Amino acid sequence: MRTLSNLILGFTLCFGSAFAASNCTLLASGGDDGPSLLKAVQSCSTITIPKSTTLNIESRLNMTGVADKHIKLEGTIKFSSNITYWTQNAFYIPFQTQITYWLLGGKRISLNGGGTIDGSGQVWYDAFATNSSLLRPIILTIYKAKGVAIENITLLNSPEWNNLVNEGEDILYRHINISSLSTSVNPAKNTDGWDTYRSTNVSILDSVIVNDDDCVSLKPNSTKIRVENLDCTGSHGISVGSLGQYAGEYDIVEDVIARNVKMSNAQNGARIKAWAGPNVGSGIVKNIRFENFIESAVQNPVVIDQCYMTNATLCAQYPSNTYIEDVLFTNITGTGTESVVASLSCSPDGRCSNITVSNLHLTYPSGSAQYSCQNVNVTGNAASLFSCTST
Ligand SMILES: *[C@@H]1O[C@H](CO)[C@@H](O)[C@H](O)[C@H]1NC(C)=O
Ligand SMILES: *[C@@H]1O[C@H](CO)[C@@H](O)[C@H](O)[C@H]1NC(C)=O
Ligand SMILES: *[C@@H]1O[C@H](CO)[C@@H](O)[C@H](O)[C@H]1NC(C)=O
Ligand SMILES: *[C@@H]1O[C@H](CO)[C@@H](O)[C@H](O)[C@H]1NC(C)=O
Ligand SMILES: *[C@@H]1O[C@H](CO)[C@@H](O)[C@H](O)[C@H]1NC(C)=O
Ligand SMILES: *[C@@H]1O[C@H](CO)[C@@H](O)[C@H](O)[C@H]1NC(C)=O
Ligand SMILES: *[C@@H]1O[C@H](CO)[C@@H](O)[C@H](O)[C@H]1NC(C)=O
Ligand SMILES: *[C@@H]1O[C@H](CO)[C@@H](O)[C@H](O)[C@H]1NC(C)=O
Ligand SMILES: *[C@@H]1O[C@H](CO)[C@@H](O)[C@H](O)[C@H]1NC(C)=O
Ligand SMILES: *[C@@H]1O[C@H](CO)[C@@H](O)[C@H](O)[C@H]1NC(C)=O
Ligand SMILES: *[C@@H]1O[C@H](CO)[C@@H](O)[C@H](O)[C@H]1NC(C)=O
Ligand SMILES: *[C@@H]1O[C@H](CO)[C@@H](O)[C@H](O)[C@H]1NC(C)=O
Repeated sequence: MRTLSNLILGFTLCFGSAFAASNCTLLASGGDDGPSLLKAVQSCSTITIPKSTTLNIESRLNMTGVADKHIKLEGTIKFSSNITYWTQNAFYIPFQTQITYWLLGGKRISLNGGGTIDGSGQVWYDAFATNSSLLRPIILTIYKAKGVAIENITLLNSPEWNNLVNEGEDILYRHINISSLSTSVNPAKNTDGWDTYRSTNVSILDSVIVNDDDCVSLKPNSTKIRVENLDCTGSHGISVGSLGQYAGEYDIVEDVIARNVKMSNAQNGARIKAWAGPNVGSGIVKNIRFENFIESAVQNPVVIDQCYMTNATLCAQYPSNTYIEDVLFTNITGTGTESVVASLSCSPDGRCSNITVSNLHLTYPSGSAQYSCQNVNVTGNAASLFSCTST
C-alpha cells in the first residue's frame, strides 16, 4: 500500500497547514498523480512540488478557470508515454488541429520554481516517423487566461509545440529552457517553442530554446507581443504567421517587437509569411520590429513571404489578402547558408507597404550574398543592398 500512503502523505501536508488548504506540498504516489495535482490546484493557493519529486501524469490536466494560484514546481512533472491514452484523451484544440496534455486558465496564476515539465517526446518522435497523421500533444496550453507568469521552468522533449497561448492576456514567460531533442534518427518535428493565438500582451523573455520548428510563432490575432533576449538553436526562427490561411477568416498580427535574438543553425531568422492563392483568408500584419538579431548559419535570415505556399503565377492571379505594413528589420548581423540572405517577397498590387531595412550585415560565407525583393518598395539605409523586381 505504498502508493496509497504516499498519496495520503501528499494530502496530509496539503490540508495540514494553519489556514485550511492554503499551502500544499504534493508528493508522488507511485501511480497516476494527475488527479491529485488537479485536486491540489483546486483546493490550495500555493502548490509546491519539491525538488526530489517527479509527478507521473497519466491523465489530462484540465486546470481552467482557476484564480490566484502559485504552482511552485521545484521537481518534475512528467507526462506518461502512453500514446493510446493521449491520442484518445488529450484536449482538442481546433486551431490547426492540435491536442494538448494540459490546459491552464483563469486569473493571476504563476508557475515557477526551477523545475521541469517533461513531455516524454521521444516515443512521439518515433511514432510520428511512421504515422504522419498522428496528433501529438502540446505540453502546456494557456487557455482563456489573464495574468499568467511562467518563470524558471525547463520544458523537456515536447511531443509537439511546447507552449500555446490560446486566448491569453497579460502573459509573461521568462527564464524558460526549452529542449526538444530526439535521441533517435527521427527528428523532434513541430516542436515550436511558443505559439500565440487570439492573445494580447504576451512577453517571452530571457530564454534558451533548442528545437526543431519555429522558436516563436505568432498566429492569428496576436497583438502587443514582446520577444526579447532569446537564444534559439535549430529552429525555424521568429515567425509571424502563417496568416490568412483559412477562407472567411480575418487574421491580425499587430504591435510586435522581437529584439536581442541569437539565432543559430536555423531555417529562418526573422520571418513574416502570409498565404495567397484562391480560397484563402485575409488579414493585416502591422507594426512589427525585428531588431538586434545575431544569426549564424541560418538558411533564410530575413524573410517576408506574401505568396506562402503559392507559386508566382498563381500569386499574380490571386495576390494575398493579408496586407503587410510598417515593418522594420534593423541591426541584423550574421551568416546565411544560401546566397539569398534576405528575401522580401510580396504579392503584386502593393500589398506590402512601409517596409524599412537598416543596418543589415548578412554574409554568405561560400559566395556573394544577395538581397532580393519582389513587388515592394523598401526604405532605410540597407535598401540599396536589395535588387528588386516586380511581377
Ligand atoms: C504559503 O506560502 C507562501 C509562499 O511561500 C507564504 O508567504 C505564506 O505565508 C504561506 N501561508 C501559509 C498559511 O502557510
Ligand atoms: C474543464 O473544466 C472546466 C471547469 O470545470 C469545464 O467547464 C470544462 O468543460 C472542462 N473542459 C474540458 C475540455 O473538459
Ligand atoms: C494506456 O492507455 C490505454 C487507454 O487509456 C489503457 O487501456 C492502457 O492500459 C494504458 N497502458 C498503460 C501501460 O498504462
Ligand atoms: C495515425 O494517427 C492517427 C491520428 O492520431 C490515428 O487515427 C491512426 O489510427 C494512426 N495510424 C496508425 C497506422 O497507427
Ligand atoms: C528565477 O530564478 C532566478 C535565478 O535563480 C531568481 O533570481 C528569480 O527570483 C527566480 N524567479 C522566480 C519567479 O522564481
Ligand atoms: C502586460 O502584461 C504584464 C504582465 O506580463 C503586465 O504587467 C502589464 O501591466 C500588461 N500591460 C498592459 C498594458 O496591460
Ligand atoms: C536546458 O535544459 C537541458 C535539458 O535539461 C540542459 O541540457 C541544458 O543545459 C539547459 N540549458 C540551459 C541554458 O540551462
Ligand atoms: C481577429 O480579430 C478580428 C477583430 O476582432 C475578428 O474579426 C476576427 O474574426 C479574428 N480572427 C480570428 C482568427 O480570431
Ligand atoms: C545591434 O545588435 C547587437 C546584438 O544584439 C547589439 O549588441 C548591439 O548593441 C546592437 N547595436 C545597436 C546600435 O543597437
Ligand atoms: C502553380 O500552382 C498551380 C496550382 O497548384 C498549378 O496548377 C500550376 O501548374 C503551377 N504553376 C507553375 C508554373 O508551377
Ligand atoms: C512606417 O513604419 C514605422 C515602423 O516600422 C512607423 O514607425 C512609421 O510611423 C511608419 N510610417 C508611416 C508613414 O506610416
Ligand atoms: C513603388 O513606388 C512607386 C513610386 O511611388 C509606385 O508607383 C509603385 O506602385 C510602388 N510599388 C509598390 C510595389 O508598392
